[in-house]
Amino acid sequence: MSTDTENGNTVELRSAAWFGSGATGGGLRAFSHRSRVRQLGYLPEEHLGKPVIAILNTWSDINPCHMHLRERAQEVKRGVWEAGGFPLEFPVSTLSETFQKPTPMLYRNLLAMEAEELLRSYPVDGAVLMGGCDKTTPALLMGAASANLPALFVPAGPMLRGHYRGRTLGSGTDLFGYYDEYRAGRIGDCEMSEVEGGLARSPGHCMTMGTASTMTAAAEALGMALPGSSSIPAVDSAHHRMAAAAGMRAVGIVREQLTPSKVMTREAFEDAAATVLALSGSTNALIHLIAMAGRVGVELSLDDFDAIGERVPVLADVRPVGRFLMEDFYYAGGLRALFLQLAEVHGALHPDRPTVSGKSFGASYSEAATYDDTVIRSPQDPVAEHGGVAVLRGNLAPDGAVIKHLAADPRLLVHTGPAVVFDSYPELQAGIDDPSFGITEDTVLVLRGAGPLGGPGMPEYGMLPIPAYLLKKGVKDLVRISDARMSGTSYGTCVLHVAPESHAGGPLALVRTGDLITLDVPKRILRLEVDDAELERRRAQWQPPEPRFERGYGSLYAEHITQADQGCDFDFLARPGANPAPDPR
Ligand code: FES
Ligand code: MG
Repeated sequence: MSTDTENGNTVELRSAAWFGSGATGGGLRAFSHRSRVRQLGYLPEEHLGKPVIAILNTWSDINPCHMHLRERAQEVKRGVWEAGGFPLEFPVSTLSETFQKPTPMLYRNLLAMEAEELLRSYPVDGAVLMGGCDKTTPALLMGAASANLPALFVPAGPMLRGHYRGRTLGSGTDLFGYYDEYRAGRIGDCEMSEVEGGLARSPGHCMTMGTASTMTAAAEALGMALPGSSSIPAVDSAHHRMAAAAGMRAVGIVREQLTPSKVMTREAFEDAAATVLALSGSTNALIHLIAMAGRVGVELSLDDFDAIGERVPVLADVRPVGRFLMEDFYYAGGLRALFLQLAEVHGALHPDRPTVSGKSFGASYSEAATYDDTVIRSPQDPVAEHGGVAVLRGNLAPDGAVIKHLAADPRLLVHTGPAVVFDSYPELQAGIDDPSFGITEDTVLVLRGAGPLGGPGMPEYGMLPIPAYLLKKGVKDLVRISDARMSGTSYGTCVLHVAPESHAGGPLALVRTGDLITLDVPKRILRLEVDDAELERRRAQWQPPEPRFERGYGSLYAEHITQADQGCDFDFLARPGANPAPDPR
C-alpha cells in the first residue's frame, strides 16, 4: 500500500488499493485504474501517493441557496492541491427547500445514503461536504458519519439581507409576515411585487435563523466545520478563502485520520444542542441532531434538549425570535463570538474535545470577540433566560411534541380551547377562511396526516394559517397543533412533531372538533381533555389510512422511517456498524 508521509505523518491511503503503490504496482486492476486517471488528464505525479479528497457538491441550477457552490468547489480544489492532495468533485443530489415537494425531508435519508455509498465505493481518502440549504447539512453529515472517512463540512453561507423600501427583509419570516398583511388587505399587489424582488438578493441560504443557519451552526459546533465558517455570508470574499482553507484542511484530517466518529461525540452533540438553543434555532434541528447522533451511536433524546435549554440562555437576537439577520450576526463576531459568550455559562460547552480544525473546540473561539452586543448578547443580558424550545408530553403526545415558545404569543402559552380539526393540508387550505368552521381566537387548530408517514415526509405545514377574518380583526396567533414540522423561519404558538403521528395511530388521530385541548408550556403539558374510556372507544373505530406509496423509494421510506422523536432516520441506517470494504483489486 502506498503511504502519504507529508508533515511527518505516515498514513496508509485507502485509495492506494485502487491505484497500487508507485507507478507500476498493484496488478491488472491498478493498471486499469491508473490508465483511467490518465484519461482524466492527470500525470502520475499529480495524484499517486496523494490523499484523494472527494468534494460532495449539492450545487444545482434548481437550488438558489447553492448557486455559488460550483464556483466555490474550485476554491476547495485549489486548497486540496495546495496541501498535496488530489481533489475529485462528486455532484450529489440537491435538496432545495423551496422547490422540492412534498418536502426535501422526504429525501434527506436518500442523500445521506448517496453520500455514504459514494464515499464507500470510490477511491476516496477524505471528503469535503458542500451544503447548507436545510436538509443538505444533516444529510451529508449523516452519510459521512456512517462512512466514517475523515470529512469536513463547507457551509454554503447565508445570503445578504433582504431589502424593501428602506427596511430589511428576512427569508421566510418576512415572506410570511407580508403575505398575511396582503391577505388582510393592508398592502397591495405593487408592494408585494417589490417584496418579491427584495427578499432574496444574492446566492446563499436563508439569512434568518431558519433550519439552514441553525444546522450549519450545529455542524460548526459539532466540530465538523472550520471555526467561524458557518457565519460567513455566501458572497463575501472570506467565503472564498474559507473554501480554500477547508480544502487544505481536508488533506490534513486524512493525514491525522481524524474521522467523524472521533469528532461527533456525546459532548459534541451536547454542545451542538446548546448552540441551537442559544441561537433560538429551528425546531428541525432536534430531529436532525437526533438522527445524526444515531449514526455514530450517541444517545441523544428530546429530553436532552429540554434539560440543556434549562441551563442555556438565548444569546442571538436574530429573526424570527429576534430582530437581526445573519449578515448582522457575522459583523457582530459570528458564531465564535456566541461560543465565547456561551462559554461563560457554567457547563454549557465542552472546550477540550477535538474538531476538524486540528485544534480543540475551546481554542476555536478563545480569540474571538463580540463587536455588537445588541446582536450577540452576553449571558448577563440575554434575549431570554432559557432556550427557546420546549418538549411537551401528555395523552396527546406520549412520545413528545415540540414548541418554539419564544416565537409564540405569551397569551397562549397556557391555554385550553376547543379543537377545530383538519385531516389534511388541502382540506385546511380550503376551509380556513370559511367562517362556518367557527374558528375564534380561542380555538385550538389541529392538523393531522402531516407526519413522517402521513405527510409524507413531515412537510413544514406546522405554522397553520390564521383565518383572514381573524387577521383583519388583528388576531395574529392561535394555538396550532400538528404532526408536521415548521420552517425555522416561522413563528407562532405552533405545537409540532406530535409523536406518534396520526397516520401511525397516534392519539392525534382520535381528536374531534369541539374536544378541549390544554397547552401548558411552563408545565410541558399537551393534553386532550377527553377521558380514557372515550378515547378507547374512538381507537376501536379508527381505520388506518391507506399507504401513501405503492412502489419505489416512497415504499422503502414508509417501511423504514422512524418517528420524529427518533430522528426520522431509516431504522436500518440509524446505528454504527461495519460493512465489508470494497476490494478494488
Ligand atoms: Fe434554502 Fe431556505 S430555501 S435555506
Ligand atoms: Mg427552511
